[in-house]
Amino acid sequence: MKIRSEIIGCGSYLPERCVSNDELSKTVDTNDEWIRSRSGIEQRYIAAEGEFTSDLALAASRRALEHAGIDASEIDLVICATTTPDNTFPSTATKVQHKLGMTNGAAFDIQAVCSGFVYGLATADNFIRCGQAKTVLLIGAETFSRILDWTDRSTCVLFGDGAGAVVIRGAEQETGSNGKGHNSGRGILSTHIHSDGSNYDILYVDGGPSSTQTVGHLRMNGREVFRHAVTNLASIVDEALIANNLDRSDIDWLVPHQANKRIIDSTAKKLGMSQDKVVLTVDKHANTSAASIPLALDTAVKDGRIKRGDLLLLEAMGGGLTWGAGLVRW
Ligand code: UT7
Repeated sequence: MKIRSEIIGCGSYLPERCVSNDELSKTVDTNDEWIRSRSGIEQRYIAAEGEFTSDLALAASRRALEHAGIDASEIDLVICATTTPDNTFPSTATKVQHKLGMTNGAAFDIQAVCSGFVYGLATADNFIRCGQAKTVLLIGAETFSRILDWTDRSTCVLFGDGAGAVVIRGAEQETGSNGKGHNSGRGILSTHIHSDGSNYDILYVDGGPSSTQTVGHLRMNGREVFRHAVTNLASIVDEALIANNLDRSDIDWLVPHQANKRIIDSTAKKLGMSQDKVVLTVDKHANTSAASIPLALDTAVKDGRIKRGDLLLLEAMGGGLTWGAGLVRW
């Protein structure tokens, strides 16, 4: 019997406080026109004082469990993709596990910055297909506002806080075929992850427990990151399609990491996809790093755009550099 991982529910959570570009321009030397034209961002959400990554993660998880119609006790693995954990240790995932009232299973964090959700998807899929987990709660949660240098206008205007979560469950693989020799059943068709540590210093945080004993602030060479994102995302998209014997035209929805509208437009163009087939949330959420894909996914599932049977392409690139993609039949 072949097992495939199916996403059976999703949920998301945004902090209450929404900060528009205009509001930001009162404290940062910037303006709405620059932010909008360079990134597509109009606003972002910022966590309240005392509101931690685990709080956002927990709220998104509860919604995902409700959508999946299952109890937390049925989860046997919690994975939290985050770069902004509550503490250096223990993991944010163990905090969420406890707050969900779970006394079983295992929990750990994944650190792949903006690619964290795709790395988590690959990890969850492999755990399930190997039989080591049956039902996984995968979360992407961030409070990036806490690691921004609010005096650096080239970075602080681009990020926001939020969380998204999915419930993934192993199921016997459906055997339908679309006539091209690949399985058309529901679930994660494949995941593809890469990294290249030689570009460590174009997107990083200038602190850490071992180096400075401080948390540090995000530093980015925006133009360089942009250049690598366009190239790496174009190649990962091809890799995912070729691995599944699929054509660009088979994809119903592009659900990309939301860093910059211009990067997303470039990937969509490469796929020959019109704007109305791209789930875009960067305008409202800004870049929420590991949370951006599950936030976008949840938005398009709940507003009815993504429907059962649709083929989704998820892709991301982030610090490391790390990048990856996943093909999912909803
Ligand atoms: O999540 C994964 C990683 N992140 C990304 O994928 C981000 C990738 N990079 C980008 O999205 C873009 O490179 C940015 C949005 C960061 C920048 O866009 P750009 O078109 O590459 O802008 P730029 O760096 O060419 O613009 C620089 C100019 C400078 O002015 P001068 O020297 O040309 O006169 C800056 O001083 O824009 C100025 N500038 C600003 N002006 C107003 C930089 N930040 C701001 C600002 N408001 N917030």
